[in-house]
Parts: sequence; structure tokens; C-alpha cells
Amino acid sequence: MSQIKHYTDALSHPIFETVSKAAQNLSLDSYVIGGFVRDFFLKRGDVKDIDIVAIGSGIALAKEVSKNLPNSPKVQIFKTYGTAMLRAQDIEVEFVGARKESYQADSRNPVVEDGSLEDDQNRRDFTINALALSLSSKNYGALLDPFDGLADLKSKLIRTPLDPTITYSDDPLRMMRAIRFACQLNFTIEEASLKAIKSNKDRIEIITRERIVDELHKIMLSPKPSIGFLLLEQTGLLDYILPELMALKGIDEVEGQRHKDNFYHTLEVVDNISENTDNLWLRWAALLHDIGKAPTKRFTKKAGWTFHGHEFVGSKMVYKLFKRLKMPLNDKMKFVQKMVLMSSRPIVIASDVTDSAVRRLIFDAGEYIDDLMTLCEADITTKNPKRFKKYHNNFKVVRQKMIEVEERDHVRNFQPPISGEEIMETFNLKPSREIGVLKEKIKEAILEGEIPNEYEAAYEFMLRAGEKLGLKPSDLKKQ
Ligand code: CTP
Repeated sequence: MSQIKHYTDALSHPIFETVSKAAQNLSLDSYVIGGFVRDFFLKRGDVKDIDIVAIGSGIALAKEVSKNLPNSPKVQIFKTYGTAMLRAQDIEVEFVGARKESYQADSRNPVVEDGSLEDDQNRRDFTINALALSLSSKNYGALLDPFDGLADLKSKLIRTPLDPTITYSDDPLRMMRAIRFACQLNFTIEEASLKAIKSNKDRIEIITRERIVDELHKIMLSPKPSIGFLLLEQTGLLDYILPELMALKGIDEVEGQRHKDNFYHTLEVVDNISENTDNLWLRWAALLHDIGKAPTKRFTKKAGWTFHGHEFVGSKMVYKLFKRLKMPLNDKMKFVQKMVLMSSRPIVIASDVTDSAVRRLIFDAGEYIDDLMTLCEADITTKNPKRFKKYHNNFKVVRQKMIEVEERDHVRNFQPPISGEEIMETFNLKPSREIGVLKEKIKEAILEGEIPNEYEAAYEFMLRAGEKLGLKPSDLKKQ
């Protein structure tokens, strides 16, 4: 075995001394393990949680640590898992007793026994997550790395400590984690692991949707999400998780006419948008913006390949997909739906940018107009440099026109200049259909540019429109 190296500089946070002393008080050894150690070597910084393994009771160690911290923070105990957690200032510290685990075929909850540090490292998902630094005074800062995780970090490799078939079959969430780490860190998953994921893919069905979605979000928030989605596709997991995306894969050819592969196109769009936004839901919108293309695909001799109405169909599919994955059915979902529904609008107007088309676009997109433009720009994936430039220029023109129109007409957060009450008063009306008709006519006149978005003009317009409908202004208003 090579000489053991010490990394005391990793342990500069004061919590480590406290844990070390507390463990000494209880005469047990303790280690910091997992993500914290991995991220130290990756220089990822920004530590939010720390995992401590005790060779003995993790719960007892947590209680002793709390006693030694100012204000003795509350220790949260998870009896079923034999773990404990406390918050020390800005970080969450998790404690677990070293354990040996064995799994049953139908569950990802293991049967647990007390074990040694080695046992505990064996049960971990990846060699890069099994690195441990000692907190015991006899070898403070020593790196315990039985599976050469440090070498894997250097060669950017995701590898399991044990036979990968066992690691993934024991806890199928790890298939998602492997792909997520590969995507976040731009690492390669070793061949044996990839094989094991392929052959265990159906076991993903025992994982809760919430955990799967957590991993999907992390893939989505990576610098280049396509790395993760390509791995999900290659391993067969995507069939289980997002069949709507799989349905976009492939190119059909009829009478020599082909359409583009909308799966790979979509992944390019997601990568493109990720260069311009960290908004998770806008990235989701990019992933889902074309899902309506599979069910709407048609070929006719006259028109070739078409996807009529795919934006509308796609926006309906968003709801079903969110529901299936137990994602929130709230304003985030509505935002994604809106982006999908409107995803072709700026493209349609880009070739002929009229004031009224731009006003309508801003009115319909409201506060999300910038997000929509970001999506449309990311949607340009042509490999033809001339066209690439032309499409981007078209959108520049749209954006410029948007600024001008918005400055003049303020339709982004449109509030009708004439209220329903005022219409009722003016024409002495009870609540009735006419009020809605008049309001709509005023809105249309503003969007079409017939009148400016101002009270006086709208009032005059309302009088004329009302008279055309056979309405008479009440005496009160005429004076
Ligand atoms: N772990 C595991 N199998 C899992 C989940 C976690 O073996 N399915 C182990 C790994 O050693 C991991 C540690 O538990 O490093 C902590 O897990 P977690 O906090 O979920 O992940 P991190 O590795 O810290 O990474 P991240 O914070 O990016 O999720």
C-alpha cells in the first residue's frame, strides 16, 4: 500500500476540531467522508453539507458535538436510519455510525449492521464518494482511500467500489447519480458500470419519482445537460423516465424528404440555453419545447413533413408529464406550458416584424417575453453559418422593435385603460355580454395600433364602439 497522505488543509472549518474532540470524549474514531472530501479535491468550494462517519454511534457523536458548540444546536435524529443531523452556522452536518449493508431485491432500504470504516466505504456508491479523511488525533487529516478514488478523480472516472451490478441493483437511484455526476463534473462512466446500468435499468421503477426528478434537476442545471440526457438515452433509462423525449428520436424519409432528428435538436437547444440562463424552468421549457412534434408529425406530398399545432399539443403534454413525475403543478408548470405554447411565435413574426405583431407578442408573453426570446434564440441550431447569422439577426430586429413598441405602448403589463365599471356607468348597463365585447374591442384597437394605450383615446373609442352596438351614453356621462 502506498504511503498515507495527510490533508489537514481540507479541515480548516472549525466544525472538524469540534467533531474530533467530541469523538475523543466518547473514545471513538470519526471520519469526514463523501461529497465534502470529493469536492475538496475537485476544488469545488461552497460547502453546504458535511458527512461524518463514526466507528460507533453516530447519534451519540452528534449529541456530543452539539454540547460542544455555542448554543448547543438541536440534533435531529432519524431513528430508522440510525443517523443524526445538526446545523452549525452555515452548514448541515450529518452523522452516521459506520455500517455494513445488505439489500433485498424489492427495496432500496438495506438491512444494516454495525461495521468498520472499510465496510462503510464498501457500501458507498462511487470510489470518488468513498474517500475519507480521519478526524482522530492519532492520524488527523489522513486520507483513507481503499479504492483509489483519488486516481479516479484525476482521470475523471465514475467507478463503483464493488461489482457495479451489486452497487446498482442494491440501490438503483445510483444509476441516476452516476449519470448526474458524469454530467455535472464532465466525467466518464467506466464501461463495466455502463453495462450494469443497462442491465439493471428496469429497477429504476422502485425509485420514487421525487428522487428521480431531483437528479433530473441536477442534470438540467449542469453546464452541458446533453451529457446527462445522452447517457440516460444510451442506458435505456430515458425510456422509463421521459418517453416523450424518446419519441422525438429518429428521422423519417418519404419520397426523399427527411425531417430533422428532434431528439438531438432538442438536446442542442438545452445546451444552448444553458449558456444563457440558470433558470431551471426555462431549461425545462427548452427540453420540452418540441415534445408535441411526435404526435403531430404528418407527411403530405404538397407540404412535406409538418408538425401542425405541435406547440398546443406539447403544452398539454407538459401537464401530463409533470403530473406523472410528481413535479409541482403550479406556476412553474404553467410557465413551462406557456413557453412551449408560444415557442414558435417570435419565429413566425421574425420575417415580417410589424408593430402590431410585436405588440401582440409582448401582450401574450407578458412578463416572460425575455425568457421566450432566450428560448427562441437557443432554438437556432442550423449548421449553415449564413442561416445561423440571418436568424439571429432577425431576432435582433424583433428585440429592437420590442424596445421601441414597449417604450411607446406599454403593453407588457397591460391593464385595460377603461374598466368594466366605467363601461357600465357610461352606457347605464347592468352586468352583460356587451361589457366584455367592448373591453375586447378596446384591447384589440390598442394591439392593432388603431389607438394609443391611453385613457382619453380609449374613452373616445369606447363611445364610438358602443354607439355602433346600439348603446347610448347615459345622461350623467354626456354632461
Ligand atoms: N451515497 C451512496 N449512495 C446513495 C447516496 C449517497 O453511497 N444513493 C453516499 C455517497 O458516499 C455520498 C454520500 O452518501 O457521497 C452523501 O450523499 P449525498 O449528500 O446525497 O451526495 P453527495 O455525494 O454529498 O453529493 P451532492 O451533494 O452533489 O448530492
